[in-house]
Amino acid sequence: MEVVVAGTGYVGLVTGVCLANMNHNVTCVDIDEEKIKKLNKGISPIYEDGLEELMLKNKDRLTYTTNRKNAYKKADVIFVGVNTPEREDGSANLDYVYNVIDEIIDSLVKDTVVVIKSTVPIQTNDKIDKIFKEKLKNINVSVVSNPEFLAQGTSIKDTLYASRIIVGVEDDYSREIMRELYKPFTEEPYNVPYVEMDRKSAEMVKYASNNFLALKISFINEVANLCGKLGANIENVTKGMSYDKRIGNKFLNAGIGYGGSCFPKDTMALYHLSKELNSEMLTIKSCTEVNKKQTLKLLEYLNNDFKNLDSIKIAILGLTFKPGTDDVRNAASFDNVKILLEKGAVINAYDPVGINNFKKLISVNKLDDSKINYFDNIEDAITGVDAALIMTEWPIIKNFDITKYETLMNEPYVYDGRNCYSLKNVKKTNIKYKSIGR
Ligand code: UGA
Repeated sequence: MEVVVAGTGYVGLVTGVCLANMNHNVTCVDIDEEKIKKLNKGISPIYEDGLEELMLKNKDRLTYTTNRKNAYKKADVIFVGVNTPEREDGSANLDYVYNVIDEIIDSLVKDTVVVIKSTVPIQTNDKIDKIFKEKLKNINVSVVSNPEFLAQGTSIKDTLYASRIIVGVEDDYSREIMRELYKPFTEEPYNVPYVEMDRKSAEMVKYASNNFLALKISFINEVANLCGKLGANIENVTKGMSYDKRIGNKFLNAGIGYGGSCFPKDTMALYHLSKELNSEMLTIKSCTEVNKKQTLKLLEYLNNDFKNLDSIKIAILGLTFKPGTDDVRNAASFDNVKILLEKGAVINAYDPVGINNFKKLISVNKLDDSKINYFDNIEDAITGVDAALIMTEWPIIKNFDITKYETLMNEPYVYDGRNCYSLKNVKKTNIKYKSIGR
């Protein structure tokens, strides 16, 4: 089967490489010449553990090109894996998806299955289906919804050993093609559950899953805030809750909220859709409000201890929205740094891989970077600072010798937004430590 994947971001590239790993011939296409050049040199344009190794392993079955027309023409199946960024009003911007659809329409010469992997608002697959039917009279295109559940940093494992493959199909032809395509994933050693349904439900599975996970995080953060006031410990509370299998122990880590390119966008998109349908989702409205506030939780601590932040030196430890990625989209670090700069603070920023992307984010948002110093090690970043704010639970931050906060900082105020250190170890030092819900 000739498979083409449009878009070489997280979703597209990882999907393409994993399908090649299952012996399919895959052409990855993109409009970005630079990305394709890199890929042809064996370099992944995204930071993702194990991806370059898998690209190398399957190089004979993988082609990277900007020649989309040629690729679409030969394809049996085309995956659409381009991004769907959030518009200012919270709705999903589908321009990239529709550009791909237009290009496919201009290129096709034979019947093809088009699989929508990008996260698109519910009913989009039906709209795309309608466009194909209207514009292509002699060629049959079957549209399939196949949402993605990979998380950045673990995307290879999340794809090969996926929690489930959700396939929204409306006709027998594409049903058979999708079964054949995904067969290797459903067999040993992967054994991924394969679930077929109608397209609209498949679209909703994606949104409901991400929104539910976001809700879990906002809920536990609110409980953590109460624990903090009561003198209870959120880690003991989540441990106690987790014995109930209906609750489980995942996505209950309290902290400074969720970021990234998915939860913030998908919660806004579902909320936006619910309002449009006159069925406003109040749970999601609260979830996003809680998250917004939680992102700035460490500033509350800071403001309690420092009456004036003008010229105060602050270390920001961790810039990415989570560990294992260089992605800084909707990262807590940005919102915090923005406010701190406005208040006149001087920032020492540290991250093991996210500095370049953070610099770009600062520049795109036209923030004055003259008061931000960047460091590639924690020691230098905290030397002489008045406070340290931990934004991302990178292993290197978690394993850091905490006595160094005491010896290197001007004042050892450490505000830990990701509960990186055990309270027992903290008690052995003189650091002035605050974390979330403990
Ligand atoms: C998320 C979902 O986990 C994936 O299943 C989904 O496929 C993906 O979105 C997507 O829609 O493409 P991702 O955004 O990569 O994946 O990151 P997560 O690991 O889910 O983390 C999201 C945010 O939640 C991070 O900022 C993380 O720090 C935060 N988080 C996560 C918590 O604050 N507490 C937790 O217990 C878990």
